[in-house]
Amino acid sequence: MSVKIRTLISEEEVSRRIDEIAAKINQDYQGKELHLICILKGSVFFTAELAKRLTVPVTMDFMSCSSYGSGTVSKGIVKLVKDLDEPVEGRDVLLIEDIIDSGNTLAYLMELLKGRKPATLKLCTLLDKPSRRVHHEVKVDYCCFEIEDLFVVGCGMDMDQKYRNLPFVGVVESDE
Ligand code: IMP
Ligand code: MG
Repeated sequence: MSVKIRTLISEEEVSRRIDEIAAKINQDYQGKELHLICILKGSVFFTAELAKRLTVPVTMDFMSCSSYGSGTVSKGIVKLVKDLDEPVEGRDVLLIEDIIDSGNTLAYLMELLKGRKPATLKLCTLLDKPSRRVHHEVKVDYCCFEIEDLFVVGCGMDMDQKYRNLPFVGVVESDE
């Protein structure tokens, strides 16, 4: 079986769109300090690209949770694997995700973080698959691209831990 990866969103398109979203965030947070929370591992690449384009003062922290095993279908159970290093109380927090699918992960994380009393809490994602949403309470404040129900890789997203480093968003196609 050979694996082919079809480009869904090119590196240039991704980069242009992150420029736009960063400009909007810079405007919205003028005069404030922004605390970015990167959800490991998938949003590492997007967080870095976004952060480089921000002109407001930025601090960063990282957390990790698991909801997927090695397959491509959500198990629906979210587990906190690595918590934040710093408290978020009183801070303007922007949670950064690679892709929102059912919304399971974000529903869990938003509740967890809200309980820690940040001044503000917003959500930014590279990709959103709205047709897959189960948790409709998850509201996305900044979204680079909405896509249909496809399993994608690249820009931090993986399939069995592979393809995270691809600089574009791709769809895995296998021909047997
Ligand atoms: P949710 O909890 O169902 O919203 O799934 C969110 C997480 O599942 C994301 O942070 C990704 O790690 C993973 N995920 C969902 N869809 C995809 C995909 O198309 N490719 C790679 N990972 C995905
Ligand atoms: Mg993820």
